[in-house]
Amino acid sequence: MESAIHEFMMKHGMHPELLDMEAHFNAFRETMRRGLSGEPSSLMMIPSYMTLDGKITEGLSTAALDAGGTNLRIGLCAAENGTCRVVNSELLPMLGTEERIDAPAFFAQLAKLVQPYLSNTDRLGFCFSFPAEITPDLDGIVLGFNKEVQIDGASGAYLCRELDQALLPYGKALGCYAVVNDTVAALLGGYGSTDPDQYDGYIGMILGTGMNCCYTEHPENIKKLSDLSGGSMIINIEAGGYDGFPVGDFDEAYDRRSANPGDHLFEKMVSGGYLNEIAWETICGAVEEGILSPSVKETLSECLWTKDICEFLLDPGTGFIHDRIAGSDDRTALYTLFDLLLDRAARLVAVSLTAIMDQGDIGKTPEKPTCIVVEGSTFQKSPVYQQKIRRYLDEFCSNVHHRYYAFTSVKDANILGAAVAAMLR
Ligand code: BGC
Repeated sequence: MESAIHEFMMKHGMHPELLDMEAHFNAFRETMRRGLSGEPSSLMMIPSYMTLDGKITEGLSTAALDAGGTNLRIGLCAAENGTCRVVNSELLPMLGTEERIDAPAFFAQLAKLVQPYLSNTDRLGFCFSFPAEITPDLDGIVLGFNKEVQIDGASGAYLCRELDQALLPYGKALGCYAVVNDTVAALLGGYGSTDPDQYDGYIGMILGTGMNCCYTEHPENIKKLSDLSGGSMIINIEAGGYDGFPVGDFDEAYDRRSANPGDHLFEKMVSGGYLNEIAWETICGAVEEGILSPSVKETLSECLWTKDICEFLLDPGTGFIHDRIAGSDDRTALYTLFDLLLDRAARLVAVSLTAIMDQGDIGKTPEKPTCIVVEGSTFQKSPVYQQKIRRYLDEFCSNVHHRYYAFTSVKDANILGAAVAAMLR
């Protein structure tokens, strides 16, 4: 049975061993270079206009927003004793997740929610977890929503300019703002709470509902921007958009029915918002070819979540999937299929991180590794996935490419990073 499953995954182009990690490392790096040069590239390589120079003024306070694929967090942050802390905050479902809305409604609702936090400050840090072009004055132009968030007609909107307009009825205005991607917020949040002397560079990584990374790049390599001065700039790679990894039949099957077909192909292979969908398509294929009994499909229809898949891989003897699937042959086959999907995902994440360290020329010695500030429930809550990522980073990134890494995560990194960005202005 075991070998039939491996053959099935090979035949459908889904098996982790089909990946030539070295070839994909080179291709990912070349795609980063093209994105930095303004040539056509599936990696947008978006300049953040944020550097790691600068100091936060003691006593400053700022409102902060963290708009993600699942949640919207709003709060007030303050700079005290050299660090930034969350004074108070609230957590709501992200707008456009419970019902489809249009751009004017999005900004009107956002203004209503944020205005109470603008009583004693006109400063706003905005962590935006979707593709946005950042302007030199740190506003963000929406390039589109993904992760199944449904907000119509927002592409092209300037986030802070529009929010400022929507605040007018409340007698509030934004005096100073900064929009950052969530990877950039994570990096800034991590940078602010670690000792930079211990590391040779930083990467901000999100592996949650979606997936993305940012890193610091030397100004001379950002060929699409002219007249750059100052230190290394943080670049939002929009890594999830990478289209160079080989997609298998079940990736394609899901992509066709997704809200953004053809887009964010890498993200769909590795992140929590999509791994369950790829697993579902794999189950459907396996039932059709007699690898799983038809009852598995009926039982898991509409209720297969990434967190349950990860829990099952950690402990196949208990939990939601174990309890629902009656036959032990089916459980064993499901275990192998899920394990192969997660293994492939971990290899892809390791390849991309290795390429990023190489491009940024960071993490050159084990004494001073790259600090990867990582956020996101998929990474944090899945020890099996995490172990696999570490394993391939050790085997490929450190042993083959001599780039070294240390993961760190920081409580409230996104909202704090957004606040730090606004305070550095
Ligand atoms: C978005 C990125 C974001 C990532 C992680 C992706 O879908 O395009 O901007 O950083 O998710 O949240």
